[in-house]
Amino acid sequence: MSTSSTARKGVLTMNSPVKVDPRPRTEAAAKQAQADRPLIWVNGELLPKSQAMVSVYDHGLLYGDGVFEGIRVYRGRIFKCEQHMERLWKSAEGIRLKVPISREEMVSVQRRCIEANEITEGYIRLVVTRGMGTLGLDPRKCPVPGVICIADQIRLYAPELYEKGMRVVLAKRPRVPIDCLDPRVKSLNYLNNILAKCEAIDAGCDEAIMLTTDGYVAECTGDNIFWIKGGRVYTPPSDVGILEGITRQFVMKELCPALGLSCVEKKVRITEVLKADEVFLTGSAAEIISVTQIDDAKISDGEGPITRRLRQQFRTVVTGDHVPED
Ligand SMILES: Cc1ncc(COP(=O)(O)O)c(C=O)c1O
Repeated sequence: MSTSSTARKGVLTMNSPVKVDPRPRTEAAAKQAQADRPLIWVNGELLPKSQAMVSVYDHGLLYGDGVFEGIRVYRGRIFKCEQHMERLWKSAEGIRLKVPISREEMVSVQRRCIEANEITEGYIRLVVTRGMGTLGLDPRKCPVPGVICIADQIRLYAPELYEKGMRVVLAKRPRVPIDCLDPRVKSLNYLNNILAKCEAIDAGCDEAIMLTTDGYVAECTGDNIFWIKGGRVYTPPSDVGILEGITRQFVMKELCPALGLSCVEKKVRITEVLKADEVFLTGSAAEIISVTQIDDAKISDGEGPITRRLRQQFRTVVTGDHVPED
């Protein structure tokens, strides 16, 4: 994974000052500036995008052997940074991977990336890979785990869907059961989700609800699911086999109480969700988005009133002066 830092131009280490050409003068220079942005942290160096590479022998690439986090930046602050660090370390532990730097260093790397790329509103992708090894599976052959940090922008769904709500499908493919690969581990191996996402794409929409192998509602391919019935907010418990979303936690523990709403975990069949008054999804990238239709079943006309209040409360927090990093 490592490359010689001296051989490449534009390489920055932790303490190098970042020089940004404010206005590229020619079209070629503008193109180059585009190719070079964002500056990306790869194993101890901040590299222009065009040079940010990992080895083809990295087991993150060869086997999806690694873990990751997707984190929002609001007003220059790393939203729920501590919780993301906690989950990253737990995920790494879940696949017997030792993160090669301390939590404090991981936070500094993120701050360095958002600062270098002048990001105040954006998204951070942190990746810890098993590192460079041999062509066999054996993780013992990968002595040095890799660390990548990309600070950039992300847009999952069209902006108008946040007002209108979205249609989703019920995936035929079940979520990987806990006994096989615990979905609480946010691993680089996302094929289960990607194949369910393909079912959504085939049906002309953006998301799919995934069930457990025994038919309980789990989560979506990249989001957690909530539903509202009779003014109460519900979501599946994490032990059905879902990622314990940081946004899910924020909705359950902070937004719902702030609005005087009760939020409970419930293990249900999809029929219960289909009878809900409102359904919405949560995720760092998606934030909070309403679901108005599941397959052919209509849930609501546009975003429901409680989902709207939750989404507005969410926006109040992330546009406010105290964006929480804890
Ligand atoms: C499978 C899955 N479920 C749920 C979520 C939402 O989690 P969070 O709110 O931490 O982004 C994600 C986000 O990446 C995900 O991939």
